[in-house]
Amino acid sequence: MSGPNALRAEPTRSVLDRLHAEARGDRLRFLKLAPRILAGLARGRSFFEIATPESMKGCYIPVSREQGELLYLTARALRARTVVEFGTSFGISTIYLASALRDNGGGIVIGSEIEPSKCTRATANLEASGLAGYADVRLGDALETLRELPEPVDLLLLDGWKDLYLPVLELVRPRLRPGAVVLADNIFTFRKALRPYVEYVQSGANGFESTTLRISDGFEYSVYIG
Ligand SMILES: C[S@@+](CC[C@H](N)C(=O)[O-])C[C@H]1O[C@@H](n2cnc3c(N)ncnc32)[C@H](O)[C@@H]1O
Repeated sequence: MSGPNALRAEPTRSVLDRLHAEARGDRLRFLKLAPRILAGLARGRSFFEIATPESMKGCYIPVSREQGELLYLTARALRARTVVEFGTSFGISTIYLASALRDNGGGIVIGSEIEPSKCTRATANLEASGLAGYADVRLGDALETLRELPEPVDLLLLDGWKDLYLPVLELVRPRLRPGAVVLADNIFTFRKALRPYVEYVQSGANGFESTTLRISDGFEYSVYIG
């Protein structure tokens, strides 16, 4: 294929630049949320009970550019046609994945977002990127919205709330094709919460081979052997 890939071409490039710049404001947004989260933790509540999707609706919490490029390259290498995403937020990761599908010649990213305002913004950002035809962001709890999926799934990104990585993987697993890749974010920050997930994919007993990539906040890279 000749010409720039979708990530380097307009309008996608400018939309990604804008979204990554807006996401830098997360530092301040987290600072504002910190007292409430710390008070809740001190009262014995879990992080995921306090930091609800509604309370975090202003936060982008996206994949880094480095992770986005890895998502793009992985989807290209797999010649992916069907990609599933748990946790879409404002659509940054979805744009990297949809770009790969465009450059692969077609396909769909099935995203999932429980927070209505984020789902609307993600859909608008995909439209602004010229990639609306390669993505379907489903509004609601991923455990419900990802029940109906086309087969086979070539790539799965896990980037929603961490207590649901294993249940979402179990839901999508019957649709994964041998050789499918599963990428899971935030392995370092949520080491304890994600330990059961990492053990599941690394044990060799559940059909996966897996390693933790030391990029950004830790990206678990798993291949479904079948
Ligand atoms: C870390 S952010 C995703 C960032 C996104 N992948 C990106 O790179 O831009 C996690 C998102 O998961 C969403 N979420 C949390 N629980 C969910 C659930 N049960 N179903 C669908 N989305 C959920 C949150 O609202 C939040 O927007």
